[in-house]
Amino acid sequence: MMILLIISILHCDTPARCEYDAILGNWTLSIGSYIDNTRRDCPNEDPIEVKETRVIELIKPNLVVDGKGKILGNWTQVCWEGVDIFIDDLHFFTFWKYEETEKGVFVTDCTQTMQGWVRENVVEPKQMACFTGMKVGKNAHQTEPRLIKTKMSESGKQLDRPLPPAPVASNRAHIAKLAKNLDWSNISGKSYTDPVLEQNACGSCYIHATLGALESRLLIESSGDVSALLSVQDVLSCSHYGQQCKGGWLPEVAGYLKDHGAVDAKCFPYENEVLPACSLSCDTPTRKFYPAYSSYVGGFYGNSSEEAMIAALQSGPIVVNIYYSLPSLLNYKSGIYVPTESPEEQNKTIDHCVVLVGYGEENGVPFWKIKNSFGQNWGENGYARIYRGNNTIQIESMAEVIYPLYTPQKKAATFLKLPEFWMMMISAGFVFLLLIVAVSLACAKRSQSSTKKDYQKF
Ligand SMILES: *[C@@H]1O[C@H](CO)[C@@H](O)[C@H](O)[C@H]1NC(C)=O
Ligand SMILES: *[C@@H]1O[C@H](CO)[C@@H](O)[C@H](O)[C@H]1NC(C)=O
Ligand SMILES: *[C@@H]1O[C@H](CO)[C@@H](O)[C@H](O)[C@H]1NC(C)=O
Ligand SMILES: *[C@@H]1O[C@H](CO)[C@@H](O)[C@H](O)[C@H]1NC(C)=O
Ligand SMILES: *[C@@H]1O[C@H](CO)[C@@H](O)[C@H](O)[C@H]1NC(C)=O
Ligand SMILES: *[C@@H]1O[C@H](CO)[C@@H](O)[C@H](O)[C@H]1NC(C)=O
Repeated sequence: MMILLIISILHCDTPARCEYDAILGNWTLSIGSYIDNTRRDCPNEDPIEVKETRVIELIKPNLVVDGKGKILGNWTQVCWEGVDIFIDDLHFFTFWKYEETEKGVFVTDCTQTMQGWVRENVVEPKQMACFTGMKVGKNAHQTEPRLIKTKMSESGKQLDRPLPPAPVASNRAHIAKLAKNLDWSNISGKSYTDPVLEQNACGSCYIHATLGALESRLLIESSGDVSALLSVQDVLSCSHYGQQCKGGWLPEVAGYLKDHGAVDAKCFPYENEVLPACSLSCDTPTRKFYPAYSSYVGGFYGNSSEEAMIAALQSGPIVVNIYYSLPSLLNYKSGIYVPTESPEEQNKTIDHCVVLVGYGEENGVPFWKIKNSFGQNWGENGYARIYRGNNTIQIESMAEVIYPLYTPQKKAATFLKLPEFWMMMISAGFVFLLLIVAVSLACAKRSQSSTKKDYQKF
């Protein structure tokens, strides 16, 4: 079971791989027809008939500009596999184009994209088209490094994956101004985190972590009123953006949730390894939860830092990516985790993701507190504390936030808390009782002295 688990979390995603510097430059986006269906599988659809083209330039650090340098929006790498581009209220997402050239050997062309998705950057209803990107300009073809070769082991493990960029420097004075300790699983004895789940032998950490952070933030923003366990299985079975049980990333889950919302876990429960077909029977508008916004901490991939993570944590839990497969971490039981392996052995890329629920210091040792999805028996009741401040297990290199779309007015109507309900019933009953007493008193008075002039006041 443990072995299966380790193998499955290592499976990850597509073999596409491009570096930041190779992506910068001018791109033509060729866009097909927009239609009402937002559940399209663009990479597997027939090549589009181009209806519209746009030329944009991706520049440092995360801006999109037109040919005259006017800012149109922003962009970020989605890890090393793909790209998110936000311009004109549109959201483009696609993977870099890759091909299997021989068994287990993949070549990515960093001057082209696969056929990806473009949709309005709002919650449903909206339209969607497919698009492709192609690097343009006289030097486009000389982009370095343009062709990247990666390998996959026989068990399906992606090899040659790069490390995420190291975190940028933090300002200690800024950190010192914020709370020294914060733990969303215990705010004066109250927990704003949902129960620890068990992902089993399915590489679904990216969905567990994203929904875990979203659930917590819904609880926090609604002051404890909106308690929802969201369906991991719905995203696993229905989203075309991630690689199901073979892994994925928060921006892909956030994109799916922005398109369709999250549904109740009770309606579409988690099935572990088997992948039930997508079922839209829970897809009713009455109880769906949408994100308002999501991004990499620091604004784009490659700009994370301890300081920005601590700042993001002030409003609720976030998501972090870690290198999990260190023997000392696999054997973790409790305490503040510090790896015992050599620096070279620790210097491996991320292969797991978890919810970051807090940070603090114990006897002068700084730590992060994470919530895992390996059940309650793992670590400290499903949680763990990790050494903070020197990018241990790459925990500070790639953090992400997701904010819920939460409207208190809507909540008041749909999610009336039980205590509130009884308070209302009791007050209504009390008013009713008062009325009865008043009426009977008045009637009694009236029958006693019906001649008194002042009875009409009643
Ligand atoms: C992108 O195109 C613009 C407008 O043609 C040009 O000024 C700019 O130099 C190009 N950028 C690169 C990196 O080639
Ligand atoms: C929550 O934190 C308080 C101190 O802040 C501690 O006394 C208590 O034991 C904690 N509760 C749990 C369940 O960890
Ligand atoms: C990127 O653009 C989107 C859409 O305009 C905006 O909502 C978001 O805040 C921007 N992100 C960053 C990191 O600037
Ligand atoms: C990148 O991170 C630095 C340091 O946290 C921050 O000052 C800067 O605004 C970030 N860049 C963007 C584009 O958000
Ligand atoms: C970690 O590995 C990367 C290459 O994957 C290398 O560039 C970097 O210098 C290494 N860092 C340490 C501390 O060994
Ligand atoms: C981080 O600091 C701890 C405690 O000093 C040390 O044991 C560990 O090797 C360091 N890790 C890295 C990645 O530098």
